[in-house]
Amino acid sequence: MRIAVCPGSFDPVTLGHLDIIDRASKLFDKVIVLVSFNANKSRAAFTPTERMETVSYTHLTLPTSDNVVVDCYNGLLADYLQKTGANAIVKGLRAVSDFEYEFQMALANKKLYNDAETVFLTTTGENMFLSSSVVKEIASFGGDITGFVPKQIQSKITDRLYKPANNIDQ
Ligand code: PNS
Repeated sequence: MRIAVCPGSFDPVTLGHLDIIDRASKLFDKVIVLVSFNANKSRAAFTPTERMETVSYTHLTLPTSDNVVVDCYNGLLADYLQKTGANAIVKGLRAVSDFEYEFQMALANKKLYNDAETVFLTTTGENMFLSSSVVKEIASFGGDITGFVPKQIQSKITDRLYKPANNIDQ
């Protein structure tokens, strides 16, 4: 059985993530969407439980959701792969700027666990600019995030992040 892990912070999940998950589910027998922890990102907007719930809820809207499950792991990705018998890590690549970091991660994961093969899927043109950080920035100013994230979670994101700035000195 070919099992792939799609890891990420998913803070929050975007339509770009869902596109990669959807396409991975057509390539592998089973896909585990893994809410993981990025040591370089200090403060998340959503708790791990919220991130898992949001991914679970929205991935059910995908036509290919039958072989997709959601999990959360606070540890090394390489250890998770070994523990679950997964053999591939699927990551989305948006631009050349993503590549250096992702390439380094792929090599480190393979060094930690030799069976860990990283598969890169290129993002669709329309999602090239899209990231959780961009979504959070727009939402924090009350901007429209339609078309960036699943419609079912738009208000949850805006409610959490929008802080009207009445006084620029505060
Ligand atoms: O969505 P992100 O923040 O770009 O995802 C990065 C993530 C969470 C997949 C990455 O930081 C990760 O794999 N974290 C788990 C800990 C780990 O294994 N780190 C890499 C060591 S090479």
